[in-house]
Amino acid sequence: MRVAIAFDHAGVILRPVVIETVAACGGEIMDCGTDSTERVDYVPYAFAAADAVSSGQADRAIICCGTGLGSCIAASKVRGVRAVTVSDTYSARMSRLHNDANCLCLGGRVVGSELARDILTLWLETPFSDEERHRRRIIEVMAREG
Ligand code: RB5
Repeated sequence: MRVAIAFDHAGVILRPVVIETVAACGGEIMDCGTDSTERVDYVPYAFAAADAVSSGQADRAIICCGTGLGSCIAASKVRGVRAVTVSDTYSARMSRLHNDANCLCLGGRVVGSELARDILTLWLETPFSDEERHRRRIIEVMAREG
């Protein structure tokens, strides 16, 4: 699985655990930056990772900002991207099973590294359920893109 990763200055605290966990799950990383705590706007970083999914260069994106909220709002504007902000393991699993989320947003000021590791592992390893009712709903949502 090819995974685009992106961070702003507030999300970069999760960078080590994101890289470790993607590798532990057998993923190949596409690094969209940033790698420092110098203040940057999250928007271009979120777009870079989301664009990688949209274009098919990556299968999934993981984006970390302070809350996981701004990056999720930005990524959700990109065609084909189903972004979710997650801060618990149940939602991590369900976002894959029911929503086929292809972009995970985490808040570096919200979740600690070890919770992030559990969330990331579940999110990377859980397949879409492929149940008809979930497929139907996702198609209905994505059709809104026009
Ligand atoms: C940066 O201070 C912060 O606003 C950003 O990381 C993110 O939380 C935005 O939603």
